Amino acid sequence: MGPKRRAAAMTGALLTVFACSPSNGATALPSDQPPIADAGASGIGDRDFPLDGNGGYDVSHYGLRLGYTPRTKQLNGAATIQAKATQRLSRFNLDLSGFEIGGVSVDGQEATFSRSGDELTVIPAKPLGKGARFVVKITYSGKPQPVKDASNLGTYGWIPTSDGAFVACEPNGAKTWFPANDHPADKARFDFEITVPRGLTALANGEMVGKPETSAGRTTFTWRERHPMVTYLATATLGRFEMRQGRTPGGIANLVAVDPSFGTALDGVYTTTAAVTDYWSEVFGPYPFSSTGGVVDNFSAGYALENQTKPMYGGFDPDESIIAHELAHQWFGDSLSIERWRDLWLNEGFATYAEWLWSEHKGKATAQQTFDSYYERPATDPIWAYPPGVAQPKDLFNESVYTRGAMALHAVRKAIGDPAFFKLLKDWNAEHRYGHVTTEQFVAMAEKASGERLGRLFDAWLFQPRKPVTVETQ
Ligand code: TRP
Ligand code: ZN
Repeated sequence: MGPKRRAAAMTGALLTVFACSPSNGATALPSDQPPIADAGASGIGDRDFPLDGNGGYDVSHYGLRLGYTPRTKQLNGAATIQAKATQRLSRFNLDLSGFEIGGVSVDGQEATFSRSGDELTVIPAKPLGKGARFVVKITYSGKPQPVKDASNLGTYGWIPTSDGAFVACEPNGAKTWFPANDHPADKARFDFEITVPRGLTALANGEMVGKPETSAGRTTFTWRERHPMVTYLATATLGRFEMRQGRTPGGIANLVAVDPSFGTALDGVYTTTAAVTDYWSEVFGPYPFSSTGGVVDNFSAGYALENQTKPMYGGFDPDESIIAHELAHQWFGDSLSIERWRDLWLNEGFATYAEWLWSEHKGKATAQQTFDSYYERPATDPIWAYPPGVAQPKDLFNESVYTRGAMALHAVRKAIGDPAFFKLLKDWNAEHRYGHVTTEQFVAMAEKASGERLGRLFDAWLFQPRKPVTVETQ
């Protein structure tokens, strides 16, 4: 499922790549190879991540059958990918990092393939026509290698733990455990069938289908995510877990799983998750998915990730603020997804602002007080040098994207008033539910909702490398 505007966006991006100087990403393209007629592009068209995702098709469904043995760290996978060609395709790419490929077929016919870095090129027996729906099956096996980012992203992807695996993939770590169109511009539905040694639990997105089945000392867990999902939110976290299941007071299915070494967290995380999910459903509009929940694992990542329906907390007992953040992402980031990474403030600025709203809701610091405490930072603070409206590929998750992004929203709230602002948050969700969003679309909607021109305000808060001079910079 791709955004309607993708074709146009991609053409633009390709033109940009070819037009700009070699220092600006063009070197990442395989320029030493002659172009092949009707080949799908090796990237989806995000100028900041030229090889992430792929061109020429749109995935609608991933069926992932996985077997994992923590003792040997061996993963055996079979991926069935349903897609639609958006151009005639003589070959196309998937993103996959490591693994030995057992075989590849397209529409039941054996296909040839080649590999280069994290690009897997599939060459179907016959070219696919534009608009054709097709099914790719890939079997693969090996020891997953998580991404170890030298700059600031840390380790992500499929990360082996003492009792299983911690699977958190933002921004492009899905390729460390399944062949993917690994970029948020392509959403798809997912089915998971995960087999692990008996005694362990495998936790994927969505809801469990049927009961776990054990035979010959191994248990298979089947999960289904019924709503479109971006690849970086897919998870198959597994290990020893204690679980609590039920419904929120508002009636949403809730499943919280906690590693026994964090056993005391179970009831607290369960109750807070329920309360926050219900509250955001009032503030942002109906909960977008079929269940809510959370996973606390013993892997000390020190971070959390908003995995769809099951945010994951890595190695700590999460407080209300971070639960409020990760669950706000279910609306901002998960239901509404960015089409290109530079718009990341649409995820992180909104989720951070949600933390401020939660505090206000609980009678603690108001959003205004929180805003003021950050606004006090001197003009030399790095947060003012980094414009959050253009997240930088080398420093995607900079504090500015979170905090100054949230301040931008607060500035909008001050400018247009509470009724228009909270209506805007709901309308934004309703209009783009399960789809893709850009900063330009948000600015346009904010202006329309308020009848005010907000160009200068957004420019000062999102795009200028300096501290905005006043709170209302219109
Ligand atoms: N999106 C996460 C948050 O703000 C942070 C994050 C970025 C992350 N990259 C990650 C978490 C990789 C886990 C893995 O909550
Ligand atoms: Zn976040």
